[in-house]
Amino acid sequence: MNLKKIFFYTLISLFTTISSSVYAQKDYKLWLQYDKKSNPEIIAGYLSNLQGIVSLENSKTSSIAVNELEIGLNAMLDSKIQINSKSDGENKIIIGSKSSLNSEILKLLKTDFDQINDEGFIIKSISLKNKKHIIITAKKDVSVLYGVYGFLRLVQTNKPIQNLNIVDSPKTNIRILNHWDNLDRTVERGYAGFSLWNWQKLPDYIDQRYIDYARANASIGINGTVLTNVNANALILTPQYLEKVEALANVFRPYGIKVYLTARFSAPIEIGGLKTADPKDAAVAKWWKEKAKEIYKRIPDFGGFLVKANSEGQPGPQNYNRDHVDGANMMADAVAPFGGVIMWRAFVYSEHDASDRAKQAYSEFVPYDGKFKKNVIVQVKNGAIDFQPREPFHPMFGAMPKTPLMMEFQITQEYLGFSTHLAYLPKLFQEVLESDTYQKGKGSTVAKVVDGTLDNHKLTGIAGVANIGNDLNWTGHPFGQANWYGFGRLAWNPYLDSEVIADEWIRSTFSNDYNFIKPVKEMMIESREAVVNYMTPLGLHHIMDTGHHYGPGPWVSNLSRPEWNPVYYHKADKNGIGFDRSKTGTNATAQYASEVEKIFGNIETCPETDLLWFHHVSWDYKLKNGQTLWNGMALKYQEGVNQVKEMQDTWNKTEKYVDSERFKEVQMLLGIQYKEAKWWRDACLLYFQQYSGKELPAGVEKPTQTLEYFKSLKFPFAPGN
Ligand code: GCU
Repeated sequence: MNLKKIFFYTLISLFTTISSSVYAQKDYKLWLQYDKKSNPEIIAGYLSNLQGIVSLENSKTSSIAVNELEIGLNAMLDSKIQINSKSDGENKIIIGSKSSLNSEILKLLKTDFDQINDEGFIIKSISLKNKKHIIITAKKDVSVLYGVYGFLRLVQTNKPIQNLNIVDSPKTNIRILNHWDNLDRTVERGYAGFSLWNWQKLPDYIDQRYIDYARANASIGINGTVLTNVNANALILTPQYLEKVEALANVFRPYGIKVYLTARFSAPIEIGGLKTADPKDAAVAKWWKEKAKEIYKRIPDFGGFLVKANSEGQPGPQNYNRDHVDGANMMADAVAPFGGVIMWRAFVYSEHDASDRAKQAYSEFVPYDGKFKKNVIVQVKNGAIDFQPREPFHPMFGAMPKTPLMMEFQITQEYLGFSTHLAYLPKLFQEVLESDTYQKGKGSTVAKVVDGTLDNHKLTGIAGVANIGNDLNWTGHPFGQANWYGFGRLAWNPYLDSEVIADEWIRSTFSNDYNFIKPVKEMMIESREAVVNYMTPLGLHHIMDTGHHYGPGPWVSNLSRPEWNPVYYHKADKNGIGFDRSKTGTNATAQYASEVEKIFGNIETCPETDLLWFHHVSWDYKLKNGQTLWNGMALKYQEGVNQVKEMQDTWNKTEKYVDSERFKEVQMLLGIQYKEAKWWRDACLLYFQQYSGKELPAGVEKPTQTLEYFKSLKFPFAPGN
């Protein structure tokens, strides 16, 4: 190679290294891009109100808050805003918690402070000695940090800051991510690489990622993280690992994030040398008490335990003829002296119970209402089966008024296309939260159960099974970040509108340009319904291929437990398709309040979106649009495919608004999604056609492969398993 060539190639490689690292940073920065504003007038407008930052406090958390304001504002407004210790002059932004405020400010904010809880914040334009300022304050420094992120969000999303009067508090106490991370760093149902927690290098090596993770969570108000998989390994409770957990807790603490662990019920045997884990055994109870003491000594603000017991083979109190109350209460006693909580999962169904799987959690847990200790909260999945693209709300919500229930959403897309498909989940979350349980009459929404207002509970929470891994972009799909973001925002306020959240996220992550926001927001809002349409339209559910849940597998029928087989759920035969859960079937509808039961239980009033969830419906049944069920179903599958095509068209027009890295990533992923949507459509329709015996209606593309071909596809290394 001649010198000229060498120089040329060096230049090229230098350029690609620089450019890819710049772009990689973009992806990595999530919704905290703090891009410089392109419009000088907007910048000038903001700067006229932001002449300096005055910090009244001195703590680790408050310096994080100041630093964040400084980085964010200076980057977005392309300036160097001064940090001062005194609020002389005008148009300062003053930050500090209540204890740092002088009497003049305190007097001004008296009624505002009365309105917020410990984690709430106040952002307000005030006048001190006739000088205008903005104050960001709260009762605790961590809540001031929430206020700072709230303020930065205003600037990120181009909102006015002249006359601010924001008084905001989170509506739930525990806003928590559940990581299904194993100690070997694989992630159950994880599609974004390996676990963030590098157990081998902890406690001495603190990866910058831990800090960035805490920062991202704090920015959306998440205040807890369960580090380990619900299918737990007892080793996490040994000193060797607790030392590492402690190191993580130390990193997360200034960001207001408490650490929780999953507790394997049989740990007293596995790591404690006991012969039993019977919750009524005094030695077992003592073991847990001592374990709690040991943990709290290291981590005084440890949150508590999340427990999956007697579910999918996990050990639990029933191994000793005890029940969930015995197990949960015994553990609750262990953490109670330290203020800890037990999040006891209600995701139970048994291979020895022949009744409808959808009924089992309710049947088992509702009789326990009122029997759990005060620091137990029962964690219930949003639907009665398992995080399907659409499920009617879980009938347990509202049915246990004397027990705090927390919501469990799944952010990772186990059943919605892994990290390959774009599916904006806050839309799904909102649909569930808005569902009316009617337990105390009209308006008894799931959100009111979850935030404690329906039954007056003080202990409340929302959990999300994380979609985060060590992929450079955290979530595998750039739009997966919106699901993490939206989860946090809804955990803070379960009444927020998912469209508003999408708007915020797009502006903070990509661009404030209306020409970008409008189509991309529409694409996001429609995306979840698209997935429902091409995977499980009209209330179909759990027809994914088994084990890994990747791709369609409606034909699977050979697994040992009936309820692990897709045929159990769709019940297609020559008469029709769907699971009869009405009075003529399993009567699962009776688990809802009578108003809801009436709606779901009657094929005429049941929303068509849930039709086959609750009814076995004849192929010739007339849908509301006049189509037969068979034709309507086929057209829904096609609609899902068409929607993905539209998503592609939308995205292809955004190139000039997005960095090329993210543009290409999303473009390629949408390409895969389109291919897989067609795969779903063709495989499912060919399979169901065997029962309906009918032709595909006009408008539905003919499959290009045979059913045998689809059945032959195997994915032994599908991720997340
Ligand atoms: C689903 C998922 C499992 C998980 C379980 C749970 O069944 O496939 O991987 O362990 O839910 O929530 O406990």
